[in-house]
Amino acid sequence: MSADPLFIAAAAVKNKAHAPFSGFKVGAAVQASDGIIYTGCNVECASYGLTICAERVAVCKAISEGSRKFARIAVYAETEELTPPCGACRQLLWELCGDIEVYLLNHKKQMVCYKLGDLIPLAFEAKTMGKSIGGGSTGNRPAIK
Ligand code: THU
Repeated sequence: MSADPLFIAAAAVKNKAHAPFSGFKVGAAVQASDGIIYTGCNVECASYGLTICAERVAVCKAISEGSRKFARIAVYAETEELTPPCGACRQLLWELCGDIEVYLLNHKKQMVCYKLGDLIPLAFEAKTMGKSIGGGSTGNRPAIK
């Protein structure tokens, strides 16, 4: 694991995951533009659909602490294949964080970085409805022709 505090935070918070149903523990850490890091783990529920992913926990914690501008997020899981954010997380991240860097990491020190916009092409967003409400997403993507 690199000494990057974002990556260390994502790996550490994975151990807090509440995943009694899947046994699949995920840690996420999002870094705001001012450098502050907010962490999240997945939290599962017997009513499965209420389960919330690590990424959304991290971002909602950041928002609830008053943070509004973000630079990057790291997602850590102990899997052979790196774990990408699910579709719901991509949508929320896009709307609230914009075109941030998304780092995927595992226990084998493998790492890959994507721009979020590449993970959610043609996203539905406030702009689609003619609203200028923003999170970070507005303005980063070329207009659809
Ligand atoms: N999960 C995450 O927390 N983040 C991801 O990127 C993928 C999936 C969680 C949700 C659920 O608790 C478990 O992993 C299995 O889907």
